[in-house]
Amino acid sequence: AVESGNQSRSLKPWMIVLLLALLLTVVAVVFGLLNQFIASGHKMEYFHSTIKISDLRVSSNSGQNTYQFKDLREMSENLVDEIFIDSALSKHYIKNQVVRLTPEEDGVKADIIMVFQFPSTEPREVREKKIHRILSQKIRNTRSLPINASLVELNAMSSSTGKLTVQACCGKRAVPLIVNRIMSEDIAAKSAWPWQASLQRNNIHQCGASLISSTWLVTAAHCFKSSANPRQWTVSFGTTINPPLMKRNIKRIIVHERYRSPAKEYDIAVVQFSPKVTFSDDIRRICLPEASAVFRPNSTAYITGFGALYYGGESQNELREARLKIISDDVCKQRHVYGNDIKFGMFCAGYLEGIYDACRGDSGGPLAAKDHKDTWYLIGIVSWGDNCGQKNKPGVYTKVTYYRKWIASKTGL
Ligand code: ARG
Repeated sequence: AVESGNQSRSLKPWMIVLLLALLLTVVAVVFGLLNQFIASGHKMEYFHSTIKISDLRVSSNSGQNTYQFKDLREMSENLVDEIFIDSALSKHYIKNQVVRLTPEEDGVKADIIMVFQFPSTEPREVREKKIHRILSQKIRNTRSLPINASLVELNAMSSSTGKLTVQACCGKRAVPLIVNRIMSEDIAAKSAWPWQASLQRNNIHQCGASLISSTWLVTAAHCFKSSANPRQWTVSFGTTINPPLMKRNIKRIIVHERYRSPAKEYDIAVVQFSPKVTFSDDIRRICLPEASAVFRPNSTAYITGFGALYYGGESQNELREARLKIISDDVCKQRHVYGNDIKFGMFCAGYLEGIYDACRGDSGGPLAAKDHKDTWYLIGIVSWGDNCGQKNKPGVYTKVTYYRKWIASKTGL
């Protein structure tokens, strides 16, 4: 009845004024509350955008001047960072992450998730427009990159999907790396190594493993010397074996078909469990490096595991970590080190002085290194060593890049 205003017979003008005033007060109170709620909640907002990167110097035949996906990802992320860090939205911009790169006929399509934090209650569409305007304007004028990018589309995402998608990305952890003062091996902080898993046979810890997707693990082949029957095996996640954060049954164990114990070549296996895990701060996957990636001798890498603290000792209930250095083949193949025992697909890490090393029970676990964007990569699998922590006998690791195609052929990853 209010709809037609002054033509209404049942409502006097003063009543309308009173009603309006009441309505306004209610609206104001609701907005005030909402505002406070949102400001105190620091809610992240997620936006998904697709950009097209053309003018790639990918001339199919010449092969030269092609960009690798890893570089492209980094370039795109840097580009979006730059765009928003120096824009009107800089105060609200948190970060971006390239979640997918898809090659297309005339370039590459990049799917990017951008995270913002807005304090006001301005409607989503308004923000979406602002972000869209800044991104589409700046993306074409950018000269900081040797690539040509254009915005294809931009949409707001629900925060639950956004969060999940960002977490599904590999090699990111929720807590910063605390540089430890290592006595032989330190106890790891919660959430520090969320891809670490414990492989258990009849509920007894046997080996470590690394999570590379929501259902796949990478580990060592020699872990299954006693039994490769999936029904005897389970996997657990979290920084303690007891209690485990999450436990799963193994449904498939694929040992490298050329692994022949006691030979130490081909010491790699992939293991599938079910049902799949949901990623969280405590359970995440680590990135697999590209087959062409190289990790420089002397650079830093970390081992983690539930293994023994000395040769002949027992496995530990709490996850431990140690910082190692990658050792060059030249050094490791010296006669007083391992000589000809270092074969293709293996490399050494640790110290010739000893002390910091993996040991029994760490096998199959990750040797991980981070790039300068703090993304963690699985570079080695704990494989073998003469005793533990002895002088001139560093740990020997399965070289993941060497088996990268094999992993892909079994898991599709
Ligand atoms: N093969 C051992 C295991 O089954 C781990 C060997 C690592 N040894 C070493 N010194 N790095 O757990």
